[in-house]
Amino acid sequence: MASHQIINSRLLLLTIPILACVFPCSCYARATDKNGARIRGMFVFGSSLVDNGNNNFLKNSMAKADFLPYGIDFPYGPSGRFTNGKNVIDVLCDQLKLPLVPAFTDPSTKGTKIIHGVNYASGASGILDDTGLLAGNVISLNQQIRNFEEVTLPFLEAEMGFQRRELLPKYLFVVGSGGNDYSFNYFLRQSNANVSDLEAFTANLTRKLSGQLQKLYSLGGRKFALMAVNPIGCSPMVMANRRTRNGCIEGLNKAAHLFNAHLKSLVDVSKEQMPGSNVVFVNSYKMIRDIIKNPVSRGT
Ligand SMILES: *[C@@H]1O[C@H](CO)[C@@H](O)[C@H](O)[C@H]1NC(C)=O
Ligand SMILES: *[C@@H]1O[C@H](CO)[C@@H](O)[C@H](O)[C@H]1NC(C)=O
Repeated sequence: MASHQIINSRLLLLTIPILACVFPCSCYARATDKNGARIRGMFVFGSSLVDNGNNNFLKNSMAKADFLPYGIDFPYGPSGRFTNGKNVIDVLCDQLKLPLVPAFTDPSTKGTKIIHGVNYASGASGILDDTGLLAGNVISLNQQIRNFEEVTLPFLEAEMGFQRRELLPKYLFVVGSGGNDYSFNYFLRQSNANVSDLEAFTANLTRKLSGQLQKLYSLGGRKFALMAVNPIGCSPMVMANRRTRNGCIEGLNKAAHLFNAHLKSLVDVSKEQMPGSNVVFVNSYKMIRDIIKNPVSRGT
């Protein structure tokens, strides 16, 4: 029981939002790809970094953000986004001139609403199936991909005459996962990580993610954006509870760095393993770290 309580409070620590907007708004996104073709929409997979309300509709999930102060700067108030305002996906939608992508588990997400894509992401979930289980019900990355494959894609094809080989290359596949595999998995088992073990775990994690990307590729995805893991050791509650030098838990941040380095290599390897694909690495770690270090210059 006592250990459960510790786990629960730790969970709360780590699901508190970091910041509203992680995309300084001049970077990255263009509404067209390099051939000048318009991006038709987005399919989004991952954790609270990119969840836009899927967990609202899960029974028995503690990883929810449907109450204030979440959404305090969002036009519709708390929505299940783990941010004050728009999250990175919303900002990307704005830049690509797309409507906001609906959440998969929302019962109103059906029919033509899904024509610009669907968001499958679930706060507290991870690359590994057993990540985040302590939060109750979450949707693992593998299950998110199955939801795309077994629910959305057949619907688009059967009901809307969608030709996957022709159309999926016009959609952006965003994947933002991995942080919780450390916070809500590895470091729950292992408080004093030994470096070689952490390396081995990270290599395992990257291998799994590589398989998941190849699955999306085999289904027809060609454009991928991989989001770096955030400075997970600097979430506001961690900083409020720990009296470390600058408030952050450096062990968690080191793990995030290690993962991000592997993720960058994965981007290079994936370009070869998935011919005709376009894979980009989005360094949201650096963007957020810069904002935390220098909040005034970003107006936060
Ligand atoms: C570190 O982890 C490796 C791999 O799991 C293990 O073989 C080794 O004994 C560990 N070292 C220490 C000091 O715990
Ligand atoms: C990595 O994966 C291998 C094979 O599945 C497993 O035996 C090993 O325990 C894993 N290592 C870590 C640190 O998770």
